Amino acid sequence: MPTVLIIPERNEGRTPLFVAEQALRSQVVKGVCFVDGWSTDGTYTELARALPDLRLKYPNRRIELLQSYLRGTGKGGAMVTGMEWALGAGYRRILFLDGDIRSVTPRWCELLYEGLVKHGAAMARGYFDRSPLDAQITRHVTRPLMSLYFPEGRNIHQPLGGELAMTDELVHFLLHGQTIDPPHHWGIDTFITVNTVVEGFPVVEVYLTQKTHKSKSLTELRQMLVECFDEMCRQIDLHGRLAAVPDVRAMTVKDVKPEEPPERVGEDVRTLKYVDLSEQEERFFTFVRGLREPETRLEELGVEPELRKLVLSLFDPAEFQRRSRELNPETWVPLLDRLARGYIQRNYDVVYHDVIFACWQLRVLAFAHHEAGSFEQAEEATERQAQYAYEYGARYRRAP
Ligand code: LAC
Repeated sequence: MPTVLIIPERNEGRTPLFVAEQALRSQVVKGVCFVDGWSTDGTYTELARALPDLRLKYPNRRIELLQSYLRGTGKGGAMVTGMEWALGAGYRRILFLDGDIRSVTPRWCELLYEGLVKHGAAMARGYFDRSPLDAQITRHVTRPLMSLYFPEGRNIHQPLGGELAMTDELVHFLLHGQTIDPPHHWGIDTFITVNTVVEGFPVVEVYLTQKTHKSKSLTELRQMLVECFDEMCRQIDLHGRLAAVPDVRAMTVKDVKPEEPPERVGEDVRTLKYVDLSEQEERFFTFVRGLREPETRLEELGVEPELRKLVLSLFDPAEFQRRSRELNPETWVPLLDRLARGYIQRNYDVVYHDVIFACWQLRVLAFAHHEAGSFEQAEEATERQAQYAYEYGARYRRAP
């Protein structure tokens, strides 16, 4: 059985239809399954109404619409629903594209498909140019923690992206071959990437030019940040990496740069003004003024006095102006590491979410001011930070 595309979405209006049509125009996608995460804006009804026409237009393809099998769950619930359905229907290759992507082209699907078929990978992941102020969870949480605790996957550029293809064998392993089930929230991508890499499945990362989607402010990213951070901590814990990290030199992820990359659709993200920085800052300082006992929380998480002092001083706007440069990769990586280890040792207590969110925002703002002046600078700084995290992780590594 051939290749199917799953489109997880919630409250995206007609954009998932656009994504589906781009995919159906490629020759590789033989079926599409929308999985609605219980939209509240009428998206489900709209998609249901559009289905008959879509089926008429593409008569030889199977087109389905499902609802996430559990209510009140997030992206993970929709992805798991789609994966279970695709396995049950006998598909051998399962593609995913997020339902809010506006820069999809048919070529994306062909390249992801080739990643499996031509390059023999179990997983082909898209990676993209990103606005300097986008991808802040990837840049400051997921990538550095991968480098620190899962060095076998340290060269992966974008571990959180939802544009990927997997073999049925890998999907089966992720759903049923684990000690725990995948999370039903934003942590699903972390779960997928970490477990695939740790198990040694071959992975390729394919350059797909650029991704444009709805931009989100730092405040709007809170839940995603918390769930991605929480899941990474759980993976570190579950794989026993708090005790020791295997000293794996070889990297499992192969970088594929297509000779003919997909066209760049939409405004160039490399120069796009993604969010209003001063507005973000204002909201941040308001948020930290309401933080309860940040010093105690940081202390409980095991953050050293020097770092604590730095963080607390940067909560003050004037001090931030003066000293934000000091929250650079060399201070952020140890801070992130303390937050992660402390959070695991404190049993994932939600009481720490606010202070973790505050620290991340601080790093994002410092990065925006000092390391993200241009696309190239931001990308280089992101790489440098991941590399620094790998070096920092040497203290935990033992021969496997
Ligand atoms: C990222 C997006 C999800 O960090 O914010 O990749």
